[in-house]
Amino acid sequence: MMKHKPVLIDAVMNAIGNIDGANVIDATFGAGGYTRRFLDAGANVTAFDRDPTVIPDAIGIKEQFGSRFNFIAKTFSHMAELNEKYDAIVFDLGISSMQIDSPERGFSFRFDSPLDMRMSSDGPTICDMFCEWSVADITKILRDFGDVKPAVAIARAIKDAMPQTTFELRDLIHNPRDVAPTFQALRIALNDEMGELNRALAAVPNLLKPGGRCICVTFHSIEDRIVKNLFRVWTSVAGDPRIPVAAAAGFELLPTKKPDAHELAQNPRARSAHMRGVIKLC
Ligand SMILES: C[S@@+](CC[C@H](N)C(=O)[O-])C[C@H]1O[C@@H](n2cnc3c(N)ncnc32)[C@H](O)[C@@H]1O
Repeated sequence: MMKHKPVLIDAVMNAIGNIDGANVIDATFGAGGYTRRFLDAGANVTAFDRDPTVIPDAIGIKEQFGSRFNFIAKTFSHMAELNEKYDAIVFDLGISSMQIDSPERGFSFRFDSPLDMRMSSDGPTICDMFCEWSVADITKILRDFGDVKPAVAIARAIKDAMPQTTFELRDLIHNPRDVAPTFQALRIALNDEMGELNRALAAVPNLLKPGGRCICVTFHSIEDRIVKNLFRVWTSVAGDPRIPVAAAAGFELLPTKKPDAHELAQNPRARSAHMRGVIKLC
């Protein structure tokens, strides 16, 4: 299985600046690629991941870095419960190469496997949710999170056939172009990925020290829009009539980055990545 290659890591390191001795939250530990770079640069890292299969990697890093590393096996919206202040909070959103390349996880239509799609190991699978959701619910998910044009037809086919495996789901979808967006939309809905992002970002202004930075690497247009719009609110100047006064939080935007041709040649999975960042001014 391909180990996850950290995406835009050099851009992220540039954006967070000197973190020697700093306190950093890695919201999405994954294979620990970002965390290792933060630790190597001298930071203390608190990392989250909802996927228990990453715990052995986290234990390995703990053995090497001791008290400078703390792993929390929970969803990143739990950062709202932390009591400390941080110099940087970094999100590298979406799923890892290990998740997409593990046939038994049911994320990929490249392998025939039970339809699971959970990022964590608890809660209902996507198969369970096909019993809970109506045709209207599935249609909305496919439209909102995948922009799938034949959303109604696919939603009806799912409710009629109740697919149990990735290939059964794939084969219900007539146009191969709609397969990847359908799988992606169902994964996003099952794992409440946009709800998680909204809840975690709401906690960020209060968790950052003055001068602290929040950096988000996104892979999907909806998560990118959530980040872009919220950062616009945080960086709006007092008196902008489009923004409620209470929302103006005193932030400055950092330049947006995309992978360059060299990174894309090394890692085609980086192709839809965008990095956005802000600095808290006071
Ligand atoms: C793209 S990978 C991160 C890769 C990591 N930056 C690296 O260099 O190895 C995303 C990771 O975030 C985790 N994840 C996604 N949403 C999450 C959430 N709401 N809470 C906690 N972890 C989440 C996934 O389980 C996955 O392991």
